[in-house]
Amino acid sequence: MARRLNGRVLAAHYETSLRTSVAQRLATAGCPPGLAVVRVGDDGASGVYVGRKAQACGRVGIRSWIIHHPATASQQEVLESICRLNADPACDGILVQLPIPAPLDARQLLLAVDPAKDVDGLHPLNLGRLVRGEPGLRSCTPAGIMALLAHGGVVLEGIRALVIGRSILVGQPMGIMLQQANATVTVAHSRTRNLADHCRQAELLVAAAGQPGLVGGHWVRPGAVVVDVGIHRAPPPQQGTRATLQGDVRFAEVEPLASHITPVPGGVGPMTVAMLLWNTVQAWQQRCGGGTAPLAPLPR
Ligand code: GUN
Repeated sequence: MARRLNGRVLAAHYETSLRTSVAQRLATAGCPPGLAVVRVGDDGASGVYVGRKAQACGRVGIRSWIIHHPATASQQEVLESICRLNADPACDGILVQLPIPAPLDARQLLLAVDPAKDVDGLHPLNLGRLVRGEPGLRSCTPAGIMALLAHGGVVLEGIRALVIGRSILVGQPMGIMLQQANATVTVAHSRTRNLADHCRQAELLVAAAGQPGLVGGHWVRPGAVVVDVGIHRAPPPQQGTRATLQGDVRFAEVEPLASHITPVPGGVGPMTVAMLLWNTVQAWQQRCGGGTAPLAPLPR
């Protein structure tokens, strides 16, 4: 039976450590860290994620606010919001919540964020720093997965890793971080042939395909480490019961086979939020010089 990599517990450790760091540095910095989330439209899941991020900020002493534009907003209006936040001394971190509704151009919006405030690690400068192995703000979900793996004692050196999904939010930076940890990485995607065969060879499988229940037990090599990035609302099992959350992995089938597995919910999701807080405090410290003691290091 797999060992569960519990993101809730590890994220709570990060929050405790960040709360202490913020409290210790507040007097020197003169103002608390500030995180602004730019949201466009009314995607329901985005609303839930943005709310969770704001609550988590409150727990560690980060001031947060949401700039919510209607889906009908123009590119220029959203760009102007981002420019105002770039210039706002109370704002250390800016997150443009994805997805951005068509016809707006999400790439241009991400490019407009000041790289020093890019706590999502999605600006080309920060992605370039990641590729080059240089210090910089790192994408939150893959950084959170690296922290979970390190904390779970998973050795990445030389292992065969498969990442399913090639988004800039998860798949691409995940592949690079795993390579930098000396794993041998394959990035699979919707056009990959024989995906099941690739999966069966993987010693580490990161499922970020956005397809509920894609990975079943017959795709998983016994003893593999399985990380599930998917989060989907499944219909209630019976009338009158609540909808449940489901990942890209069929948990009940895979848990008996894997050596380690992340549950959904309570695995990757809380770690994404913890890394966002970590990046925001890091950006605040860089900008305000809130003391010299480094934050606990993140696995690269
Ligand atoms: N949408 C879903 N997850 C994320 C995330 O981690 N960052 C951003 N910007 N948008 C998201």
